[in-house]
Amino acid sequence: MASNTTAVALPRFADKVVIVTGAGSGIGQATARRIAAEGGAVVAVDMNEAGLQKTVDSILEAGGGSARAVVCSVASEESVKALISGVLSTEGRIDSLVNMAGILRSLPTMETSLDLFQQVLNVNLIGTFLCCREALPALLESKGNIVNAASTSAQFGHPYMAAYAASKGGVFALTRTLAWEYLKQGVRVNAVAPGGIMTPMVVAQGESMGGFDMDLFTHLSRPDGVFGAPESVAAVIAMLASNDGAHMTGEIVKVDGGVHN
Ligand SMILES: NC(=O)c1ccc[n+]([C@@H]2O[C@H](COP(=O)([O-])OP(=O)(O)OC[C@H]3O[C@@H](n4cnc5c(N)ncnc54)[C@H](O)[C@@H]3O)[C@@H](O)[C@H]2O)c1
Repeated sequence: MASNTTAVALPRFADKVVIVTGAGSGIGQATARRIAAEGGAVVAVDMNEAGLQKTVDSILEAGGGSARAVVCSVASEESVKALISGVLSTEGRIDSLVNMAGILRSLPTMETSLDLFQQVLNVNLIGTFLCCREALPALLESKGNIVNAASTSAQFGHPYMAAYAASKGGVFALTRTLAWEYLKQGVRVNAVAPGGIMTPMVVAQGESMGGFDMDLFTHLSRPDGVFGAPESVAAVIAMLASNDGAHMTGEIVKVDGGVHN
């Protein structure tokens, strides 16, 4: 018997305005494309102007929804305020905020300077907080939602990633806290916890791991060496941000190929 496994692209984001941070690369880029392909008006945010341009060009080429690029550091309070007021005056509303901007720095903890630790927290945790805080008034109006980027390192730890894992632990707690706080007002807040997704972040990390005790990594990657695709995480984010995720809030959804089961 023939089985129908063809995915049908539903226009789940028609008439929806979705801000995607970290949209110049990796998971954020794949998410921006996915949401636009489903009819969304994407505001693509990143510090990497060239990456952003590539994202927006590929969306316009593919047709479907629309995309507008905004160069912005999520770690700057002033820039995030300008981002949100710009979206409200240009697009007029916000239905979803997808916080994918992030940085990873791998080092033994004893060699991790205060400055580096703070840099990682500033982008991954403070940046997520700032975007959430500034977008929440508009999300309360639209009964919208937020999807944050946690990580399996938040729940399970990761050697040589003290700052990163701690920042993602903060995102985990922030996500669950906002989910409770805004539950009655109809704003959903969820996160994905990716692990082992092949993106420029992971490639750069691999290049910086000389001298690390690799035995510590054996339980962190799949025995078959397979990495996930950014599109696999984008599909889960799109589900959470769309009405398909209507009955989910406060969830941290692992997308790690089963490594941490
Ligand atoms: N790839 C993985 O296996 C993995 C695992 C767990 C969590 N994550 C998380 O998923 C998210 C996306 O990661 P990725 O793997 O696609 O990485 P990536 O490096 O490909 O993309 C991250 C993007 O964030 C942008 N960015 C960095 N600092 C910024 C700032 N201050 N303001 C705005 N943009 C900024 C970068 O320019 C880049 O385009 C990150 O939050 C990451 O921590 C990824």
